[in-house]
Amino acid sequence: MRKVTIVGAGNVGASCALWLAQRGICDIVLVDAPIAKTIPVGKSLDLLQAGPIVGYNSRIRGNADGNYEGTENSDIIVMAAGLPRKPGMSREDLVGANQQVVTDVIAKAMPLSPNANWIVVTNPLDTMTYLALKQSKLPKNKVVGQAGILDSARFAAFVAMELNVAVENVHTVVLGGHGDEMVPLTRYSTVFGVPLTEWMSKEKLDAIVERTRKGGGEIVNLLGTSAYYAPGAALAKMAEAILLDSKLIVPCSTLLEGEYGLKDVCFGVPVKLGANGVEKIIELKLTDDEKAMADKSVKIIRETMGALKF
Ligand code: LAC
Repeated sequence: MRKVTIVGAGNVGASCALWLAQRGICDIVLVDAPIAKTIPVGKSLDLLQAGPIVGYNSRIRGNADGNYEGTENSDIIVMAAGLPRKPGMSREDLVGANQQVVTDVIAKAMPLSPNANWIVVTNPLDTMTYLALKQSKLPKNKVVGQAGILDSARFAAFVAMELNVAVENVHTVVLGGHGDEMVPLTRYSTVFGVPLTEWMSKEKLDAIVERTRKGGGEIVNLLGTSAYYAPGAALAKMAEAILLDSKLIVPCSTLLEGEYGLKDVCFGVPVKLGANGVEKIIELKLTDDEKAMADKSVKIIRETMGALKF
């Protein structure tokens, strides 16, 4: 059986485990830092005990006290460790604390699973994806950040709510950094193949775009902590695409080396996900307005990257 190690048994990691367990396509190992003590063990048992009810048969193991035993030869490592946002905090505020966490996880998990693909969800997302890539020295296709699937899903959910249509009829594209300056591409977003602009007024659409941009913050303010069901679902979708080699095109944070006119930065763009991780970067043509939005988003990521200490 293929193996996915999830580092971080908090809300996001455990939700990822739940969505993944239901697919029955991999063994799952839940790991956390020593401070989490026996929590990964408790969560894994709880998840296992849902199996007979829901009808899944996935093997799920949880490790206590920061132990990485049993993670050897993982196909995928999900980096869901790190501090979440609290009300009043931006994702960028987490850079210092989470740099340490990401560095530590790479040092512990890499030697046991040198060939794993990494999926990063730790915030600030694009900067932590870049850091994981640099620290691991892995080829760029093997380290990818989760952002655009979640942001596109938020956009789609708001459109479906507004138009009172099934979410499966809605197709949305959100690129850019996973921050409030993300780049929702309304031109490429449709309901039943018909552009969103034909379904609603500009004012309505602008309001939905704004709500999408602040979608993570909206939930932080409601919950007092970061969202987890949808981020976990997005992670599971990415892991599935890699495990099944499905060649799924989805927006993810990946290292750009000239694509979209950008270099040496991890940024959300459409990629093809398969067994080799990011197998291709899809370059969409952007209008001047969209480029301006992307530039603004990149600027914030570069500022955040400036706070990394190497
Ligand atoms: C969010 C966090 C996971 O957008 O970044 O909810």
